[in-house]
Amino acid sequence: MNNLYKRDCLRLLDFTSLEINNIILLAEKLKKDKKNNKEIPLLKTKNIALIFEKESTRTRCSFEVAAFDQGANVTYLGPGSTHLGVKESIEDTAKILGRLYDGIQYRGHDHKIIEILSKYSKAPVWNGLTEKFHPTQLLADLLTIKENFPEKKFCNIKCAYVGDAHNNIGNSFLEAALLVGLDLRLVAPKECWPEKKLFKFCQEEAKKKKRNIICTENVAEGVKNVDFIYTDVWVSMGERKEIWEKRIKLLRPYQVNRNMLNMTYNSQVKILHCLPALHDQKTDMGKSILKKYGFQNGMEITDDIFKENQKIIFEQAENRLHTIKALLVSSLLKKNNL
Ligand code: CP
Ligand code: NVA
Repeated sequence: MNNLYKRDCLRLLDFTSLEINNIILLAEKLKKDKKNNKEIPLLKTKNIALIFEKESTRTRCSFEVAAFDQGANVTYLGPGSTHLGVKESIEDTAKILGRLYDGIQYRGHDHKIIEILSKYSKAPVWNGLTEKFHPTQLLADLLTIKENFPEKKFCNIKCAYVGDAHNNIGNSFLEAALLVGLDLRLVAPKECWPEKKLFKFCQEEAKKKKRNIICTENVAEGVKNVDFIYTDVWVSMGERKEIWEKRIKLLRPYQVNRNMLNMTYNSQVKILHCLPALHDQKTDMGKSILKKYGFQNGMEITDDIFKENQKIIFEQAENRLHTIKALLVSSLLKKNNL
């Protein structure tokens, strides 16, 4: 029996370290099989609902392609297209979708909604991003980190996450670091540190395993000798537009640029970004915001650094597919003989 069968994934701490490592191993195998045209579709009778209350490129497409590769069917339920929470309670919707579908993906504004979905749906529920957590992103990030250091254990790898550390990526990174043993420094102004309770829990549990998780405002201290610098947008989906000015003021010193890379004293340091990134002015948002606040060359990451690292950043994006597929196969099959 597969231990992950019918299990929800609302956050990474829903899993044990062993389970996370097994999902990554399965993702590696599925990625290899797909590249060698040897993938076996194991989800042929399965139906999956994809509820998106926020925009998405990578997550939606990864869930869809993962399902198609494995022979499953999907229904995309975009913003405003169901009665969820408008004319029908989340509880009732969960009961109905849980009867029709084998699994439900939810991306939305309020983590409480996915908790209610999970409570009342008999089918597993996967978090495709809430304001609190983005667990499937971190699965892809762990695979990318592993692929770049195949000879090293996670516990011998140092990462700095710089910028808005109290968003969904910061929180999920904390949980990922605790589970796999990464040395993690959250490098941000105090106002952008994660929720105290979660940070304290992860730090104390990490300490028991002799692992290191810290928060620091000091960029030089935080990025010194790291193998990876990871960043994300400074204002997340669903946050008020008015917050930009304040956030930019706080986070300007935390931009990933040449100067920050020099502070790592590691000429091989690698950059990760969950994307989308405001690294140039080729988007409407990039044009208006970068111009308004006087950024010449990208906001959370400069365009030169983004371009130098685009191979790994786009591999990281592709890894969303392979890791989401591993999650689907793990939670939808009683036994997987892979
Ligand atoms: N990284 C990520 O979740 O991207 P999307 O918003 O495009 O799904
Ligand atoms: N923190 C970002 C992540 C995007 C993948 C957001 O929530 O918008």
